[in-house]
Amino acid sequence: MKVVHTIRDLRDQMRGHDKVAFVPTMGNLHEGHIKLMRTAADYGDPVVASIFVNRLQFGPNEDFDTYPRTLTEDCEKLQANGVYCVFAPLEKEIYPVPQDYRISPPHDVADILEGEFRPGFFGGVTTVVMKLFSCVQPRVALFGKKDYQQLMIVRRMVQQFALPIEIVPHETVRAPDGLALSSRNSYLSETERAEAPWLYAILKSVQTAVQSGEKNLVQIEETATQQLSKRGWKPDYIAIRKRSNLQRPTAEEVIAEEKLVVLAAATLGKTRLIDNLEI
Ligand code: PAJ
Repeated sequence: MKVVHTIRDLRDQMRGHDKVAFVPTMGNLHEGHIKLMRTAADYGDPVVASIFVNRLQFGPNEDFDTYPRTLTEDCEKLQANGVYCVFAPLEKEIYPVPQDYRISPPHDVADILEGEFRPGFFGGVTTVVMKLFSCVQPRVALFGKKDYQQLMIVRRMVQQFALPIEIVPHETVRAPDGLALSSRNSYLSETERAEAPWLYAILKSVQTAVQSGEKNLVQIEETATQQLSKRGWKPDYIAIRKRSNLQRPTAEEVIAEEKLVVLAAATLGKTRLIDNLEI
């Protein structure tokens, strides 16, 4: 496996490959990331991963400085799972000058849910993803449903810029107790880790309520939010939305059984977790 740190070395490695399957990451890899790598081999060849903690997508009070950086261990995992090349640039390689040209995703999808609580987040994500796409020039790129809104926003960007890249979604990979795997789970204390699966349990209860025909979605969201609060969480949102555009469904759409997803973000102790479940 080749580990390259510069765009020039990456381009040398990519020469002659026109079926690359790409998995962008911020490292500190867990089994969720690794499943994406293995699935990538079904969609293209060779598999290329990137590891880059992207400052542009972190707010001033977020965990950019403390985000776990574990390049050696990450590379061992990638090598053991058939990855051909890892692009692990330094910050000055991706942002040698201030990144004044940016992708600006539309307000209706980028300033709701995660975007409401993390202003500028999706602008930062799409800008780096566009730049990574430009460096790697993949045919296919894989994104996890764990970050549902990110997946949707990247897909729309690819459509609207007519990028010749297929975006492949991957199911959320979970621990046996239901907790969605995340690099940020490593911030949880032992007691918090025992509590953390409740986020998924509550999403399941929302799914059950909707599937059993309950039509008052606001009431379902409020009940779920209260349940988490009572357990000591600080919920940012629990929102039942249309899968197609993450907007609220109208009463008519609920009756017509529009495809829905419930998305949640909540802080446990000092750790903010997100999860979602298609209904
Ligand atoms: P990161 O959080 O490292 O995630 C990299 C990819 O792995 C994303 O597509 C994410 O959705 C996916 N992923 C993470 N946990 C997962 C899980 N439990 N199950 C399935 N997929 C999972 O997302 C980012 O990095 C960044 O925003 C990035 C796209 C790299 C841009 O900086």
